[in-house]
Amino acid sequence: MTAALSPEDIRVLKSLTQWWEQAGVDVLGPPPGTRPARRQEPASEPAPRRAREEPAPRATPAAARAAGFGAPPPGEDARKLAAGADSLEALRAALEAYEGCPLKATATRLVFARGNPGARLMIVGEAPGREEDMEGQPFVGRSGQLLDRMLGAIGLGPEDYYISNAVFWRPPGNRKPTDVEIEACRPFAERHIALAAPDVVVFAGGIAAQTFLRASAGITALRGRWSEFAPEGGAPVPALPIYHPAFLLRRPQEKARAWEDLLSLKAKLDGSDA
Ligand code: URA
Repeated sequence: MTAALSPEDIRVLKSLTQWWEQAGVDVLGPPPGTRPARRQEPASEPAPRRAREEPAPRATPAAARAAGFGAPPPGEDARKLAAGADSLEALRAALEAYEGCPLKATATRLVFARGNPGARLMIVGEAPGREEDMEGQPFVGRSGQLLDRMLGAIGLGPEDYYISNAVFWRPPGNRKPTDVEIEACRPFAERHIALAAPDVVVFAGGIAAQTFLRASAGITALRGRWSEFAPEGGAPVPALPIYHPAFLLRRPQEKARAWEDLLSLKAKLDGSDA
């Protein structure tokens, strides 16, 4: 006898299958009673295999919807909700009320921000992990502790920065957020930066850098390069992508490059970068 699935189980299963589908896994297989189609021999040379370092193709919201999974695109509702928030408190309340991100169903709580909202520096990471999901604050686990130490090394204390993420709820098992989830949060994340109005924004890790700078290059190419980010409805702000501290925990040999980026950040904040 099989036990009935609870609505919560179904939500978790949907979230997992969405992730697998988007990763190219045929979760359901062919419908019962059908035979898999025979593979056609390629008429010409097969396409060359992807180079190893090329990032895997990211699922699009359209592909996720076509597969029957995922939230509807954020569309006007999310953008209107975000744009209607005229303070950080109002933005947080709008997110608490927002049902457009599928991650909300599996996360414990919203993870909004920590630090000083009036600081000149804002750091935006990827998505909350387990510790953040438990505490309701971004970057409080091991990678957050490393981030605090890195910023401390250039003389910045917790009152000198404000931290948030591109995605406001924890993806199950700390997997990467999908494009659907990122896009569902984007209007709020952009509004967050516009309302905090920092002098400088740092994108920690490839997902944050690619999301906000609408870049497809990997973080190795993006890190250390200043550009300008104009959040919707906000003023343009100098933006610096850096390695994610979780990556540095796995690859401490990259810390020298991270240090270069921190020095560049310090110079920008000090006005001595010209
Ligand atoms: N990694 C992130 O990108 N954000 C967090 O809040 C924690 C870990």
